[in-house]
Amino acid sequence: MTRADKADRAIGIFDSGVGGLTVLKRIAQRLPHEHLCYLGDTARVPYGTKSADTVIRYARSCAARLTERGIKLLVVACNTASAYALETLSSELPVPVIGVVEPGAREAVRRSRNGRIGVIGTTGTVASGAYARAISALNSDIRVYSKACPLFVPLAEEGWTRGELPRSVARTYLAGFSARRIDTLVLGCTHYPLLRGPIAAVAGPGVLLVDSARETEKAVEAVLREQGLLRAASTPGRHQFLVSDAPATFARVGARFLGHPLTGVEWVDVQTG
Ligand code: DGL
Repeated sequence: MTRADKADRAIGIFDSGVGGLTVLKRIAQRLPHEHLCYLGDTARVPYGTKSADTVIRYARSCAARLTERGIKLLVVACNTASAYALETLSSELPVPVIGVVEPGAREAVRRSRNGRIGVIGTTGTVASGAYARAISALNSDIRVYSKACPLFVPLAEEGWTRGELPRSVARTYLAGFSARRIDTLVLGCTHYPLLRGPIAAVAGPGVLLVDSARETEKAVEAVLREQGLLRAASTPGRHQFLVSDAPATFARVGARFLGHPLTGVEWVDVQTG
């Protein structure tokens, strides 16, 4: 296969559900000529309450479904899977693998002025300590305060992202942060940017919300450029959406978030193979 043929292959992206679309959107804006193949493992969402072994098993099967379609790079657009499975996937797959925890940590460290950072994420991501480790590897003087917010994921999957209910859930989860005097809050779950409105309203204007998508898109471009795998064609890239359950719900919530209809969302079996 020539390098041009390889460059013409899609970037694979997966998450447990709609959350990774927050990463896909940024990659699509930065690299509009790239083909993107997205897999939402909606049959097994949420990942955030599952054990590390289970998340690794799920991540392996999602990665297998995407690599068998011939992707050139894999983005693990899920913090829980990045926290638990990034090393495994990187060592097993024939393509470069990019996670979202390290990029999110980098962005937070770059943006915080007072060195007091809050992290919200799934139960698994918070329990793994992945953000605290990544932040302290970049700057060991920074104080990190974490809180698991598991109810945000089903709210985002249902598209229940505005109004009093998500705001009240946010108020309950974020209450402890005000005494910590954080100036930066990491949305350490790719579903949470869908709830940016209520989270920002509760966190207040003095707290900057950071998500991993911006740094992740840069990392994707850098790796493709370095390997000579940026797609050269000037035609827009194709976007393909795969789910392991309930394509209609995914299409409804995804279309609202991406601002255009998602046609032909395809079901795939993630359990076999
Ligand atoms: N969006 C994912 C994350 O970033 C997973 C959420 C979940 O399935 O619990 O962690």
